[in-house]
Amino acid sequence: MARNKTVFICESCGASHAKWAGQCSDCGAWNTLVESVAAAPAKPGASAPTNFGNAAPQVERLNAIRPAETARTPTGLSELDRVLGGGLVPGSVILIGGDPGIGKSTLLLQVLAQLSAAIPALYVTGEESLEQVHLRAQRLGVDQAELAVLAETCVERVLALAKPQAPRLVVIDSVQTVFSQAVTSAPGSVSQVRESASMLVRFAKATGTALILVGHVTKEGTIAGPRVLEHMVDTVLYFEAEASSRFRVIRAVKNRFGAVNELGVFAMSSAGLKQVTNPSAIFLSRHETAVPGSAVMVTREGSRPMLVEVQALVDESQLHNPRRVALGPDSQRLAMLLAVLHRHGGIPLGDQDVFVNVVGGMRVTETAADLAVVLAALSSFRDRALGERLVIFGEIGLAGEIRPVPGGEERLSEAAKHGFTRAIVPKANMPRSKRVGDMEVVGVARLSEAIDAIS
Ligand code: TYD
Ligand code: MG
Repeated sequence: MARNKTVFICESCGASHAKWAGQCSDCGAWNTLVESVAAAPAKPGASAPTNFGNAAPQVERLNAIRPAETARTPTGLSELDRVLGGGLVPGSVILIGGDPGIGKSTLLLQVLAQLSAAIPALYVTGEESLEQVHLRAQRLGVDQAELAVLAETCVERVLALAKPQAPRLVVIDSVQTVFSQAVTSAPGSVSQVRESASMLVRFAKATGTALILVGHVTKEGTIAGPRVLEHMVDTVLYFEAEASSRFRVIRAVKNRFGAVNELGVFAMSSAGLKQVTNPSAIFLSRHETAVPGSAVMVTREGSRPMLVEVQALVDESQLHNPRRVALGPDSQRLAMLLAVLHRHGGIPLGDQDVFVNVVGGMRVTETAADLAVVLAALSSFRDRALGERLVIFGEIGLAGEIRPVPGGEERLSEAAKHGFTRAIVPKANMPRSKRVGDMEVVGVARLSEAIDAIS
């Protein structure tokens, strides 16, 4: 037998190199090359893996293609269906990542137990014993489900045992624990994860089985294993939460069958994950009266408007370089917004520490939060509360202009629905009448106008 060839694979982009180096020459990431054993080249004559056992492909005209009706299977949890784009698509592959203990196994066991009444489903665990799975099911109250479960880590054996069951949905918990006999490196290594995942993906595509892969995340927050894993699958979901919070948010970061950035919200209870269908209520903290440093905004992550509270604390700094700490929004953007506040609002915060947080551990990435962040900081600096029942959103430009944000109308009606009485929004987002329900809407074109509107 020929000696196995060693290669170095980049954990970030999956490129392979003949020699180790500190930096990957393909993607530029540092310290990401790991040693692994080169996979044996495919034998000549082996069938091409991309043609999932279908008839020989033909060149066709786009407008002549008649797509088969993709019947989506609802998962039984509308919050999960929302991030999936409306349910499970047959033959689709979903990668779900998240920190340990966040509830990936819990959620999937709940979904599978419920679905197993309607379609044949298989839960493959490589991390826990069947007794542990049963204990968890008891806790969730689903231990009587007719769900097929398997504790196995060898992909070839998993597939051999799965085929006769003809499942319509298979969950692999987790992709880092399974291994293929075709590759000699240890489970969890880059080449092993890549090879095992690609075998499972081929199985899903060839049989039309929906496949859910659970993935661990690294300390940098990306799914461990090469980026190629994200390229291989149709949908990538991340499970997020703040350590102390019982709320969990599932976010779609890639979806070939639906919109990205769509959010599903759950709460962890003593009997598993419960969906939260009205999340606006939980991301607002209930102050008796308005407090300084707090501003409420409407985010629109994905298609759903949601009220969240942005809090800021501005305090005289003891440091040479005052701190700018943002949990939720981006720290770089916070520094930029404070510069705009100084230059175009005439408010110097250069000698102040500024901390910004979004209540409930929500991560708000959209620029529509800019105006709420700046006004919350200003409110804390002046130690004066913003008006009660006031909602704010809008993007701030470097020239001090307030730019419109997408979905202004939906944001306004969500705020009006929750009893807000005043809104400060970009002028270009103004509705024709100056009211939405009982809410007065104030349009501002410049940061200075927004500061006047709260004074
Ligand atoms: P788990 O699903 O095992 O996480 P992952 O698979 O993402 O690593 O999460 C289990 C955590 O959730 C654990 O800390 C206990 C808690 N939990 C509950 O609070 N209620 C429950 O009903 C269950 C099953 C778990
Ligand atoms: Mg788990």
